[in-house]
Amino acid sequence: MTANTICTICSNKEVKDNIDDSCSRCGADKKSLVPEDNESVKSFDFDFFDLPENLEEVRTRARLKLKGYCAVYPYCDGNPDRICQRETYGKPIGLGGAGSGASFTANVESIQKLKLNTRLVGEHFEPDTGTSFLGIDLSLPVMGSSTAGISKYNDTITELDFCRAALKGCKESGTITFRGDTWFYTPEDNPALDAIEMEGGYGIPIFKPRAQDVLKKLIERSEKINCPAVGVDLDGCGSTIMAKHGQPVFRKSVKDLRELVEFTSLPFIAKGIMTPEDAEACVEAGVKVVAVSNHGGRVLDHTPGVAEVLPLISKKIKNKAIITADGGVRTGYDVIKMLALGADAVLIGRDVIRGAVGGGTTGVRMQMERLKQTLRQAMMMTQCRDIKEINETILF
Ligand SMILES: Cc1cc2nc3c(=O)[nH]c(=O)nc-3n(C[C@H](O)[C@H](O)[C@H](O)COP(=O)(O)O)c2cc1C
Repeated sequence: MTANTICTICSNKEVKDNIDDSCSRCGADKKSLVPEDNESVKSFDFDFFDLPENLEEVRTRARLKLKGYCAVYPYCDGNPDRICQRETYGKPIGLGGAGSGASFTANVESIQKLKLNTRLVGEHFEPDTGTSFLGIDLSLPVMGSSTAGISKYNDTITELDFCRAALKGCKESGTITFRGDTWFYTPEDNPALDAIEMEGGYGIPIFKPRAQDVLKKLIERSEKINCPAVGVDLDGCGSTIMAKHGQPVFRKSVKDLRELVEFTSLPFIAKGIMTPEDAEACVEAGVKVVAVSNHGGRVLDHTPGVAEVLPLISKKIKNKAIITADGGVRTGYDVIKMLALGADAVLIGRDVIRGAVGGGTTGVRMQMERLKQTLRQAMMMTQCRDIKEINETILF
């Protein structure tokens, strides 16, 4: 029986003889193909025979698919009345924040309370949003963050396809994505590294702070598949689910970090840093990129928001390491604020997940394009011709 299908990962349209086949262009699993008469697609009660035409449609599809986990609110802040918080109290965390959600909310509020100064009198110009990160040219100073485990939310996308959608969608919009690590990833069976390998190495794996020998194995494979950098989310030591599944995680000392930095020829990223002291310790260990982050508020309840600690960290380590920031960034207006506070680049977590679930590669690309468009507007109105011109004077 033939069927018309569209691949939500690479946008390939084809007539298939066997709807159980994977995509002939990118090899995506059959779950990522959208056949006209597929019952499981119909069960989402949504007619997505075509690719989504715009971001609104991507988000509507994501809302349907992530039912019970994320309502794709226009204002996503981890407030206690949000589905992600209510549904997860005492249960697995889903897309919400840890405990009360206070750290998640602090991320969003700390960005929202900053306002932008317009500077409108001057020559007209077209803002240049381009930048570079570890020698990689990016069309905007925004990358996908490290995320994992999305296949467990209503089983709407396989883990491999989720990773591929994030990788391809970011690449199509001229940027790159980090990839995450979770309890069902192992050195032997690792969807993040498999997906990065399929993309020719164009992705940055961030591993949980596993035992040193396990990390070394993962780093060795990352080098072999040509990743441009590797890293560890140091705040992942607060995860309890890893140990439950026989994959314990640990705090890392300066000595541990230095051992990993020296083990690899790749630039090393330390993610999850929230204090100037930890940032300095990372620099001392030889870390190239300090990723300021509280994991989207998902590991420790009651941390400050990232935008509150970022200037303090930037003051201490600017010019000694590259700084990324993530947590609560939804638009280019948020991006420009993080850059003004001292970040060299910004990472996006939940919105890349929603883009991938709602529209595969296309959804992620649309999400990144919206960030670029709103960043360009913010730069034009605050008189920043390029990324280097963005500084704290644009903040009110
Ligand atoms: C569902 C989910 C899974 C995540 N998985 C990881 C992970 O595997 N590794 C990691 O370093 N961070 C992980 N994060 C945190 C993100 O990398 C990022 O720090 C955070 O989502 C940024 O906040 P935002 O979602 O508000 O953009 C995850 C976040 C979410 C929401």
